[in-house]
Amino acid sequence: MSRSAHPAGPRHADVLPEGHYTAPAADLNVLDPKVWSRTVDRDERGVVTVGGIGVDALAEEFGTPAYFLDETDFRARCRAWAEAFGKDADVFYAGKAFLSRAVVRWLKEEGLNLDVCSGGELATALSAGMPAERIAFHGNNKSEEEIRTAVEAGVGRIVLDSFQEIVRVAHTAQSLGKRQRVQIRVTVGVEAHTHEFIATAHEDQKFGIALAGGQAAEAVRRALKLDGLELIGIHSHIGSQIFDMAGFEVSARRVVQLLAEVRDEHGVELPEIDLGGGLGIAYTSEDDPREPHEIAKALGEIVTRECGAAGLTTPRISVEPGRAIVGPTAFTLYRVGTVKPLEGLRTYVSVDGGMSDNIRTALYDAEYSVSLVSRTSDAAPMLSRVVGKHCESGDIVVRDAFLPADVAPGDLIAVPATGAYCRSMASNYNHALRPPVVAVREGEARVIVRRETEEDLLRLDVG
Ligand code: LLP
Repeated sequence: MSRSAHPAGPRHADVLPEGHYTAPAADLNVLDPKVWSRTVDRDERGVVTVGGIGVDALAEEFGTPAYFLDETDFRARCRAWAEAFGKDADVFYAGKAFLSRAVVRWLKEEGLNLDVCSGGELATALSAGMPAERIAFHGNNKSEEEIRTAVEAGVGRIVLDSFQEIVRVAHTAQSLGKRQRVQIRVTVGVEAHTHEFIATAHEDQKFGIALAGGQAAEAVRRALKLDGLELIGIHSHIGSQIFDMAGFEVSARRVVQLLAEVRDEHGVELPEIDLGGGLGIAYTSEDDPREPHEIAKALGEIVTRECGAAGLTTPRISVEPGRAIVGPTAFTLYRVGTVKPLEGLRTYVSVDGGMSDNIRTALYDAEYSVSLVSRTSDAAPMLSRVVGKHCESGDIVVRDAFLPADVAPGDLIAVPATGAYCRSMASNYNHALRPPVVAVREGEARVIVRRETEEDLLRLDVG
């Protein structure tokens, strides 16, 4: 199905505007399992359920907007990644996608490690009992205080991102009488096919140290000389929401080349490589993501082959999926407030949230799907734009999607695949109160991050 093709059968069929929409599904009541979490279904009343609980009951108890996270699905995805990579590799969940203390406990129980990228994420991880040695600490400009806290806590690795940081971490570790395990993040010069703002391996951006021009080799040289550091490997993260494995292959090959150069120059075989995160998920029925076992197989094969060719012992591989684990496990539930048909264009459906709970559409032109979830409908598909309640016209949650033409104020609609980078990038724009995250599992729902209140806002405003 091609995008921008004029779909069959919507209202206003004679004058359809340009847009990134595809033909509506044959039956809008059917939920595509690609974009909805594992335990989502419709009950005999036609109400969508998650973990066996109807969204009507969830809205009643927890209010809207709210994120509902399918814990069963989250745990299953953790296990799938851990099993796919096996004992000889490590999976670090990227906490920036979504982190809370409950999530940390699930990760711990399911045997995953955790990648944090700020003092706040580190504090969350430690306070929920993640063993420090299972934590990797990232960031392109970690503060002295963050470095000290991480070294003192005994994090398993710090990923070094600049020449200054090599010295800073070495100095801190030495002053604490420690030797810190570190990796060096390199930029391999791959153009990942994703939005510019979430691509990270090309050279003209802020992360890592370039392989080009011998920069990364120089970083290794310096790190190996410093007593406070134990250099355990090389790290590369090429970007996010990527479907094509080719970029990962080039990245793996270039990282292995660096390992060979390091062996030749220093007689040292670095024991680990980290290939980062970035695996894409299905936001709409058009997307076809890879399964963890396919990724593990592809990466394992390329690293083994390249190391074989270079005469290196195959290093331990680690990966850092964030979106691919948590993204598909949650949906955002909204209540419709107004419905405004614009003749010849589309119908604007306003919900009680918006860009404060999902900035991805405004920021990256992200595409989402949406469904009417409080009931089924036989009405014709209607080209709709789901918008929020914020004071700007860019406040769009779903740019173009089909909802039944009888969608009305009071209906509940839900946007699937909002588990990653929605709550974690939520804001208080217009003094919106950030929505809660409710974990649902086998007929039970519990708040894991509560809804903000006006008291929360006023507490920060000290007059
Ligand atoms: N490892 C490193 C070093 C990273 O920088 C990231 C993401 C990940 C792992 C996890 O990537 P994932 O598997 O989740 O794609 N806010 C953007 C995404 C920014 C990603 C930043 N780094 C979005 O909403 O699409």
